[in-house]
This record gives sequence, C-alpha cells and structure tokens, in this order.
Amino acid sequence: MNATTIKAGVMGWPISHSRSPRLHGYWLARYGIDGTYEALAVAPEDLAEQLGSLRDQGFAGVNLTVPHKKAALAVVTSLSPTARAIGAVNTVVVGADGKLEGDNTDGFGFLENLRQDTAGWRADTGPAVVLGAGGAARAICHALAEAGAPEIRIVNRTLTRAEALAGDLIGPLMPWSWDDRGTALAGIALVVNTTTLGMVGQDPLDIDLASLPTEAVVNDIVYAPLETPLLVAAAARGNPVVDGLGMLLHQARPGFEAWFGRSPEVTAGLRAHVLGSEP
Ligand code: ATR
Repeated sequence: MNATTIKAGVMGWPISHSRSPRLHGYWLARYGIDGTYEALAVAPEDLAEQLGSLRDQGFAGVNLTVPHKKAALAVVTSLSPTARAIGAVNTVVVGADGKLEGDNTDGFGFLENLRQDTAGWRADTGPAVVLGAGGAARAICHALAEAGAPEIRIVNRTLTRAEALAGDLIGPLMPWSWDDRGTALAGIALVVNTTTLGMVGQDPLDIDLASLPTEAVVNDIVYAPLETPLLVAAAARGNPVVDGLGMLLHQARPGFEAWFGRSPEVTAGLRAHVLGSEP
C-alpha cells in the first residue's frame, strides 16, 4: 500500500462471514485498481467514532452490514432520498470535505439482478408478492414501488409488521396475512422471498404454488443455499427463477464506483469467485 492507495471496507459485528471483501477484492484485481477493501469489526458502541474517523484514516468510504444499517442514519452528514425512505444505510461515501454521505443500494441491487437475470423483466408487468416485512423487504418494496409495480402484496407472519411497512412507504402496498400466502400468488408477475425460511439451518418456506402463474418470476434473496426449496419447486413447474446471490453482487456496484472510480460488472467469473473458497 502507498499514499495513493484507495481504501474502503465493510463495517459489521460480527464481520467474519461477510462476502463483501471477496467481491470487491475480485473487482480491484480485475480492473488493476490500487485499492484495498477490508473487513472491519466494529462494535455497535463504536460505530459513530469509527465512521467519524474514516477520513483521517484515509478511507473513501465503507459498506455497512448488521447491526449498523439503521444506527448509521443518525451518524452520517447527509442521506440519499432512498436511504431516508428505507430507513437504513448500507453505503457511505466520504466526500472531499470529509462529510459522510449515506445511501442504500439494496433496492438497486435487487432490481438490477432481476433485470440482468430475466431478459426484459419490468416491474410494471403485474402485481408483486413480497414475503416478509423486515429490512430487506423494506428496501425491495421501495424499489418495486419506484419502478412502477402496480400492486405490492406484503405477506408476513406478523401482520402488524406488514401493515407498518405498507404505511411507511409510498406506493400501492397491501398487507396480507401469512395464512393467505398461497392465495396471494394469484395473478402476479413476481414473488420474492425475503424471509429467513429456506436458509441453511432454517425451516423451508411452506407455500402452495398452485395459484402462481407459470410466467411469474420467482426470486429468493436467500443465497445459502443458492437453490432454495422454493426455487427448486418453482423451476420444476416451469417458472423463471432468480437466486439471491445477484442482489448481493449488484448492491455493491454503486459503492465501488463512488470509491474507486470505475463502474464494475457482475459476471459469471465474479459469481464463481464469491461462491468459491480459493484466494
Ligand atoms: P431482514 O432485516 O434481514 O429482512 P428480519 O427483520 O429478521 O430480517 O426479517 C425476517 C423476516 O422473516 C420477517 O418478515 C419474519 O417474520 P416476522 O415479521 O413475523 O418475524 C420472517 N420469518 C422469520 N421466521 C419465520 C417463520 N418461521 N415463518 C414465517 N416468517 C418468518
């Protein structure tokens, strides 16, 4: 590293599981950029101080992951309209004046992944079902609403959380109860699982796909495993399926471009590298 090396990283607690260093490391090597991207273990009580000292430590910016995304709202100098609407920050850019600009690129990553993986996909094709009402669902609902989805059915185990999410965002958002998850699939163009169901160590997502149109795109944001029981069942009945790794890869693009000055590409080589264990 020398004086011109551009520094970035990801702050989380814990941070060892993060795939972001592999992802950004691949792009840095691929494009021959003099930069580093580090995993930064930052305890919740240290977040404000660590963000505040980014400039002095020579960082161009950072990504934020669990548990810092909401807490950062009160620390950064300015928020993008998207970060403000979603209520979470996942990308911080240190401005020339040392100010911290907070953005949220999760919804961008979600949309770009669908656009890349399913030729010609458009949000305005028909209603969408979002399973879950946590932080990921919030970013996805916001993105779908902005992209012109005519109706967004938020189906969640705890109905009050679906209602709160529908009330917080602007758009055609409808809360649905978990018991009606099979019925909610009728006439839709897209269903996205944002719950933890189907993840390694969790129960599978139990949902009856009988009402789902066969043209509807099925997307699971769970990426461990890559082929969740939902995606396997959907593919078996002929639905186009999109796995969850792409959202992670695409959400990283705006930060990389802001820090390192190069618009990076999501390619098969990147996917293989992020999934693999070789250095
Ligand atoms: P994130 O911020 O990553 O989206 P989260 O806020 O923990 O994660 O949200 C997890 C989602 O999975 C929630 O919608 C949760 O439903 P509740 O709001 O009812 O908690 C959903 N979820 C988790 N376990 C579930 C289960 N066994 N059955 C149905 N939904 C479940």
